[in-house]
Amino acid sequence: MGTDLSTTFTGIRFQNPFLLSSAPPTESESNIVRAFDAGWGGVVTKTIGLHPVVNVVGPKTKFLRADADSPRLSMKKRPGAALHSSWNWELISDKTLDWWVPRLGRIKKAYPNHILVASIMAGSGNDTELRHWQELAVACQEQGCDALELNLSCPHMDRPDMGSNVGKDKELVSIVAKAVKEKAKIPVWAKLTPSTTDIVVEARGAFLGGADAIVSSNTFTSLPLIDAETLDFEVHVDGFVSTGGLGGPAILPLSLAKMSQLTQAFPNRSFSGIGGISTFDHALNYFLLGCGTVQVCTAAMLDHAIGPNLIKDLNQGLARFLETHADRGWKNLDDFVGLRRDRVVSQSKIRRPDEKDYRGGYDAEGYAEPVTDVAARG
Ligand SMILES: Cc1cc2nc3c(=O)[nH]c(=O)nc-3n(C[C@H](O)[C@H](O)[C@H](O)COP(=O)(O)O)c2cc1C
Repeated sequence: MGTDLSTTFTGIRFQNPFLLSSAPPTESESNIVRAFDAGWGGVVTKTIGLHPVVNVVGPKTKFLRADADSPRLSMKKRPGAALHSSWNWELISDKTLDWWVPRLGRIKKAYPNHILVASIMAGSGNDTELRHWQELAVACQEQGCDALELNLSCPHMDRPDMGSNVGKDKELVSIVAKAVKEKAKIPVWAKLTPSTTDIVVEARGAFLGGADAIVSSNTFTSLPLIDAETLDFEVHVDGFVSTGGLGGPAILPLSLAKMSQLTQAFPNRSFSGIGGISTFDHALNYFLLGCGTVQVCTAAMLDHAIGPNLIKDLNQGLARFLETHADRGWKNLDDFVGLRRDRVVSQSKIRRPDEKDYRGGYDAEGYAEPVTDVAARG
């Protein structure tokens, strides 16, 4: 008998816990079909809205790379550089709901055992916008989608009532989740922005509204670097840029910190982890902190647009991990999810060489030698 990679998350059975996140890899029917054929357990569609959007002229995503032998960071292609992050200012899907509806139905009919999650987004703050959320939810659910993911996290929406601007307001998060839950017969996941002081606050709002899971992180608000020769941003249109979203390896530790806060605050709730995953070992971090599934974008974009090699590696990595730990009685993901959640503690709980001498840093001069003779320095 082969290793069991399957898992159940928010009541849905996944063949494996690896999903493509809402982004270019899931922007079309052909990509989603390729992703399922390649072995992804699920996909979250590119975010669907009610009104078509128009993206900026030129590239919507670029990749920042680091030199191995110098501190240089640049988006310029060059040999020997390693991926640091992706940067994007792409809006939600530029296809209408009418375009998506028949495709969602066709995909689900052809792949009944693969999980299709519809990412949706509307505005907030009035009944019309809340009805838009419901309209999107019902349309996707009628096509057989297995779950809904609420995009409360896109970092580059100008409208103050959309994307991460909603995700920054715990009341709006709650209201939107509740409105969708009123119509949803399928699980509702809330994808929150990492750009707040305490993501636990917004997560509480989402759960109060009835959300079945929290998804984190979307990209982190950021700017491309300025080229020291041209004095232009490395991404710009006519010399202008707006803030966009940072993804990929650079955000893995940042996103893990957010996830750790979430899973500790709500140990019995469901979480899907995203941010910087490109190997099974990366994904393992999220599982050990308490995530039941993980999602990938940047690494898949760089692997034939939908990550055929990546999903093979992730599945093999999980299978190998379960085999390696079979002697502990681990048979599937559930046996180790959350195993390291409680190892993240406050600084003062970390052991000191001699605990009785620790005074919380109040009587020390940071890490420098204390200056004893200030006058002598002048
Ligand atoms: C070009 C691009 C477009 C994206 N579009 C969406 C989107 O429409 N909806 C959404 O929820 N997240 C979107 N994201 C965010 C990703 O789903 C993911 O949360 C983020 O990239 C972090 O994962 P990563 O480090 O694996 O890239 C987008 C990311 C990129 C790079």
